Amino acid sequence: MEFNASTANLLKIKADSLILPTGLELTTTAKEIDDALDGAITSLIESKDFTGKTGQCSLLHRTEGHFKRIVLVGIDSANTTQKVISAVESAATVILKTPSKKAVWVADGLSNDHQWLASIVARSFSTATYAYAGTGIKPTPKTLKALTFWSAAKKDSSAAKTGLAYGTALGNGMNVARQLGNLPANICTPNYLASQAKKLAKDQPNLTTTVLKEADMKELKMGSLLSVSAGSVEPANLIVMNYKGAASNVKPIVLVGKAVTFDTGGISLKPGRGMDEMKFDMCGGASVFGVINALLATNLSVNVIGIVPAVENMPAGNATKPGDVVTSMSGQTIEVLNTDAEGRLILCDALTYAGRFKPDTVIDIATLTGAVIGALGKVTSGLLSNDDDLAEQLLDGGTRSGDRAWRLPLWEEYDKQIKSNFADMANIGGEAGTITAACFLSRFTKSYKWAHLDIAGTAWLSGAQKGATGRPVPMLMEYIRSKASEN
Ligand code: BES
Ligand code: MN
Ligand code: ZN
Repeated sequence: MEFNASTANLLKIKADSLILPTGLELTTTAKEIDDALDGAITSLIESKDFTGKTGQCSLLHRTEGHFKRIVLVGIDSANTTQKVISAVESAATVILKTPSKKAVWVADGLSNDHQWLASIVARSFSTATYAYAGTGIKPTPKTLKALTFWSAAKKDSSAAKTGLAYGTALGNGMNVARQLGNLPANICTPNYLASQAKKLAKDQPNLTTTVLKEADMKELKMGSLLSVSAGSVEPANLIVMNYKGAASNVKPIVLVGKAVTFDTGGISLKPGRGMDEMKFDMCGGASVFGVINALLATNLSVNVIGIVPAVENMPAGNATKPGDVVTSMSGQTIEVLNTDAEGRLILCDALTYAGRFKPDTVIDIATLTGAVIGALGKVTSGLLSNDDDLAEQLLDGGTRSGDRAWRLPLWEEYDKQIKSNFADMANIGGEAGTITAACFLSRFTKSYKWAHLDIAGTAWLSGAQKGATGRPVPMLMEYIRSKASEN
C-alpha cells in the first residue's frame, strides 16, 4: 500500500473514501464536511448511530459528491495512546471491508503529534493488509491501494511524511515477523531461517549475514545450545545479521531472538493439546528479522546486530535427557532437569557469544515461559533487566508504540531456586517461572547492560484469531529510534 501526506484542499483530493475522526462535538474539519454534506454528520449523531466513543466507527454511504463513503471514527476526551491505536485499527478494518481504492485520513482530532499519528496510521494499515499466504492459501488482495494522510496546516506536512515512512517500515517489519511465525515448522526450519537471513543481506551494503553451523558451534563450545538440537534431524544454526547504520566506533545494540522452530518439549514431552502452537516458539527470532527489515527501510543511524539461535526441540534416542549435565560456552555447567526449558539453554550460549561484539546493550526476546501468561496475560510482555535506565527506556518505547511491557524483579531470592547439586545451575527453578528463567539468563549477561523480554503471551494469538502478532517489533524499533537520535 502507498501512503502520502497532503495539505491540499480536502474537498479537492481525488479519493473515494474519507476517514474522519471526531467526537460528538465536531472537530473543525468535521464541521466543514458536515456543512458541505447538509448536516449528514449531525443527523447521524442525532439518530445516536454515531456515539463518538473512541474507536466506534460509522460508515456513511453517499450517492453523490466525490467521496463515496465517509467513515466516522469516534474520539472522546480520555484518549490514551492505546485507545488511539485501537481506534485507527478499527477504522482500518472498516475501510478494508469496503471496495474503497483510495482513502483520505483526516489528521485533526486524534492527536496533535502528526508524526506519531501518521506513524500509527501507516503501521496499522500496513499490518491490516497482511494476510497469511503460502501452504495453499492465496488471500484475495485488498482493494485499498493508497492512503493520503491529510493535515490542515502546511507546517505539519513534513512531520506527517516522516511518520508515514517510519510507520510503513515498522508495519512491514511486523508483517515479516508474522509471516515467519505463521509458517509451519516443516517449512520454517533453522535452515529456512538461515536462508531468509542470507537473502535479506543480498544487495544490501548495510547488512551482512553470517551463519554458524553446528561444527562452528562445537568449536565455540556451545554445549548448551547444541544439547537442545541433539534429538532433531534439523541442524541448528546461529544466525548473525549485522546492520551497520552508524560509524564503526558506535557500539552496537545486540538483539538475541529465541528461534525454536518447533518445541515438542523434547524428552520432557509436552501434552498434545495445542502443541501445534509451538511452531510460534521462534517468534523472538522472527521479531529480530522484523527489526532488521525495518532498519533497512528506515536507514536509522545505529548499529544493530541481530543474533538468532535457531533449533528444533525433539525427543529421540540421542536427545538430551533430564538429569544430563551440559557445559555452556561460558564454561558454566547446567543440569538439564527439564528438556522443555530449552529456550534458556540456547539463549545462554547466544548471549555469551553476544559479548564478542562489545555491545552497548543486549536485549533478548523470547517466548520463554508459560508462566508469563499467568502473570500478564496476552496483553503485556514481561521485562527483566540488570539496568534500570535500559528497563525504563524499553518500557517508554512500549508505551509510545502501544506495545507494552511490565517489569518483574530479578532478585537473589529467586536466583537461589536454580541451584543444582550436580552442576553450576539447574535449568528450572520452583515458583515464579518467568523470573527464575531470567535469573538463569542473567548469569550469562554480567558483562553488559541487558534486558530480557518474555513474549510468550504477546507474540501470537490463539483461537479464531490464531496467528503471530509481530510484537514486540514496535517497542524494539521505538527504543532503537530513540538511540539512533543520539548518534
Ligand atoms: N516455549 C515454551 C514456553 C511457552 C509455553 C510459550 C506456552 C507459550 C506458551 C518454553 O520452552 C517452555 O516450554 N517453558 C516451560 C518451562 C518449564 C519447563 C520450566 C513452561 O513454561 O512450561
Ligand atoms: Mn519448551
Ligand atoms: Zn520453548
